[in-house]
Amino acid sequence: MTLPAIRLRPARPDDRALLQRWDEAAHVVASDPNDDWAWEIELARSPDWREQLVAELDGRAIGFVQIIDPAREESRYWGDAPSGLRAIDIWIGEAGDLGKGYGTRMMTLALARCFAAADVTAVLIDPLAGNERAQRFYARLGFVPIGRRRFGADDCLVMRLERATFEARSRLSG
Ligand SMILES: CC(C)(COP(=O)(O)OP(=O)(O)OC[C@H]1O[C@@H](n2cnc3c(N)ncnc32)[C@H](O)[C@@H]1OP(=O)(O)O)[C@@H](O)C(=O)NCCC(=O)NCCS
Repeated sequence: MTLPAIRLRPARPDDRALLQRWDEAAHVVASDPNDDWAWEIELARSPDWREQLVAELDGRAIGFVQIIDPAREESRYWGDAPSGLRAIDIWIGEAGDLGKGYGTRMMTLALARCFAAADVTAVLIDPLAGNERAQRFYARLGFVPIGRRRFGADDCLVMRLERATFEARSRLSG
């Protein structure tokens, strides 16, 4: 099967309306009910502990990925995280684009970006404890659950992908 031509490019200030519409879509709200992404402020800056990326399928924007270094993220969302980690947020924007394999491809690109830094040992994600479909999606990519954790009002399941697992799976998929 030919993989769709998906690329990740930096989010820009002129993506604001699109990102705002996506983050108000029912399937995104269901996965992330309590975050305020403050697009107007955040798209205007590029701190070195974060990448905000728009995924494009043959030039059409289909989703969003954020990669942070949890040890350096300003709000201390992850508490006292050690160095050598990354954490990812991801969503598909339009409901009609869900479940077509695009998320898997986006996540594979995002993980390659994370592990391109030689000091990164593992990647974390924090789906809601009730978001079992997203957990299944991450498990298929090699993430394993490491425990429930409350982030603000959200009851989450933290999952982790080790570099060795990612590299072994990358070798297998050629
Ligand atoms: C999770 C997500 C990025 C996966 O991308 P995708 O392109 O839909 O997924 P793929 O087609 O590559 O893989 C299909 C799997 O994605 C997951 N998935 C599909 N739709 C989903 C949805 N609405 N919510 C959560 N997970 C979903 C399921 O595990 C599905 O497998 P299944 O059909 O066996 O249940 C995407 O579904 C999404 O944006 N969901 C809503 C927001 C969300 O839950 N983000 C994760 C927050 S931690």
